[in-house]
Amino acid sequence: MIVQIDPVKPQIGGIVRISKADLCNPAVVEAVRSTLEERGVLVFPEIAVNDAEQLAFTDRLGERVNFTRRVPGSDSSANDVYKVTLDKEINNEPDYVLGTFFWHVDGATMDMPLPKATVLSGRALSSTGGATEFANLFAAYAALPAAEKAALECLSVVHTIEAGLRPVWGHPPPERLAPSPMQHPLVWTHADGRKSLLLGTHADGVVGMKAAHGRALLWRLQQWAAQPDFVYRHEWRQGDMVVWNNEGLMHRVEPYTDGHRAMHRTSIAGREKPGYIASPEAVAKTFEPV
Ligand SMILES: [Fe+2]
Repeated sequence: MIVQIDPVKPQIGGIVRISKADLCNPAVVEAVRSTLEERGVLVFPEIAVNDAEQLAFTDRLGERVNFTRRVPGSDSSANDVYKVTLDKEINNEPDYVLGTFFWHVDGATMDMPLPKATVLSGRALSSTGGATEFANLFAAYAALPAAEKAALECLSVVHTIEAGLRPVWGHPPPERLAPSPMQHPLVWTHADGRKSLLLGTHADGVVGMKAAHGRALLWRLQQWAAQPDFVYRHEWRQGDMVVWNNEGLMHRVEPYTDGHRAMHRTSIAGREKPGYIASPEAVAKTFEPV
């Protein structure tokens, strides 16, 4: 079977032209796996999967993981499908959903291998807002000047849930904070030797720098990585499904208020763990103001 995947932009994005009946065909699964590395995010227009079909496809791509269950209060009956919605009847932690308005990498603040890939299907759309943007952190690193690459490669970054939720809460309540910030390399050398930046709103400071210096660097790099050449913006149509390489992309959603909007997310386990729990001393030093 020939699988047609059309590039969207030179540095990111692909459209997979298949019918739903072929979704779990081994040729499709293999093409998706390999093209995901190169294109970062793949779109299956209006394929209209249900949960069982999405889980079956997720299982073909790799080992299914519901890392959301690690979040206090998350719905343990979710059957590995996390429902991204502001409807409090369905998702009892809308502050985490509001946090997705800001660039992030799924799982970066958790002490576990980063999820390899994320599958997201559009079940109910909002009338305004709600497009999802993806930024290619491999391409963002590759395009840096050589001297800057060398300087950044030595740096470690402290990632906190607090920073990810600060835009939502201002000062997040204590029960929303994880006791153990993660420390990741700023430049992640993957097992296959490729390198990407590891960034997001949860990146809260650079080890060895005063707080303002570290955050200024991180925010400048985030803006660099979010420039149009590295970004694909997906305007959802009913039934669209996207898959992205969570290890090498950051993503965010354009703000929406519609409580009916619902996206169903499944995640594929990663094998690589770029960081570890930061020591309290490193965290304290990283957040020294002056
Ligand atoms: Fe996300």
